[in-house]
Amino acid sequence: GTVALEETDPLTLSAWILTQQHKSAGARGRLTVLLNAIGVGCKFVSSAVRRAGLAGMMGMAGSSNVQGEDQKKLDLVANEVFKNSLRRSGQCCILITEEEDEPIFIEEPHRGDYIVVFDPLDGSSNIDCGVSVGTIFGIYKAKNPGSGNYSLEDVMRPGTEMVAAGYCMYGSMSYMMITTGKGVAGFTLDPTLGEFVITHPSVQVPPRGAIYSINEGNAVNWDEATKKYVEECKAGTFNNGKPYSLRYVGSMVADVHRTLLYGGIFMYPADKKSPKGKLRVLYECFPMAMLMEQAGGKSTTGTASSLGMVPDSIHARAPIYLGSREEVERIEQLKKECG
Ligand code: AHG
Ligand code: MN
Ligand code: MN
Ligand code: MN
Repeated sequence: GTVALEETDPLTLSAWILTQQHKSAGARGRLTVLLNAIGVGCKFVSSAVRRAGLAGMMGMAGSSNVQGEDQKKLDLVANEVFKNSLRRSGQCCILITEEEDEPIFIEEPHRGDYIVVFDPLDGSSNIDCGVSVGTIFGIYKAKNPGSGNYSLEDVMRPGTEMVAAGYCMYGSMSYMMITTGKGVAGFTLDPTLGEFVITHPSVQVPPRGAIYSINEGNAVNWDEATKKYVEECKAGTFNNGKPYSLRYVGSMVADVHRTLLYGGIFMYPADKKSPKGKLRVLYECFPMAMLMEQAGGKSTTGTASSLGMVPDSIHARAPIYLGSREEVERIEQLKKECG
């Protein structure tokens, strides 16, 4: 066969990151180096996920993290991959990862001015059955760059202060969705090139969507507003009586990825069992909220934009509803009405 002409000039993730850098005056290419390091980490984990069943990397590691979750072998492999890649990039001063209780302070000669918060492997419960998992990351710039003075104050900041965020989903293909605050671009890993190639230059989430995504097994514990909203979805109240579809993978990355592309809403509310919600503010809620808002959608805790929160600890949790603008606005309205 012949190679289509457009395939002879792929825009790779690295090339795209450079074009973003050129748009910000005074940029010295350090964020570019950092984002490339994340790209390399994602390629490594993508390959590990695809070989896991063959390489003896499935199953439990026999340890648990600070949140009391049992760690899978791949959780730990992915964590090491990103820690190493980020340290080696020379651009980070602090790393926050789901899998470690304490923040990691990077020492010289590797220290830089960025803080990276990450969920190395999201959706661990899906590893052993081959369902989509992912990596989520968010990036802050230190408050006093170049000072050598870095503390937890550099981390306990609202999501609005993130300079970049994204995720990679290891699904039927590996997808990277990324924002540096000027919209969202999507890339697909071309396994023959070993490069992420742009496939979604400007992601726009539809203003409405007929898909809702929530762990309905928790329904008895939901608050009134969430119950009402889900009833409306089933009744098709705002869809000419045509019921919405339910889709729930159980990997936030996969559920959010579908929501970005097809529209609809993803919810992990606070409930009687988890009064603060389940998902973690820094490395799950904030990056996904930034992507959703940059794609024209919304993200809320129920009362206000998720990005406005200030976490009170590095593993703090919060309720989250995110997706199509009008769906999220409806939930906020019901929260007001139900109190
Ligand atoms: P992780 O695998 O990184 O610990 O995250 C799991 C999260 C998230 O991926 C998903 O949306 C949620 O847990 C699913 O929770 P339930 O099993 O309670 O529905
Ligand atoms: Mn976990
Ligand atoms: Mn997760
Ligand atoms: Mn995880």
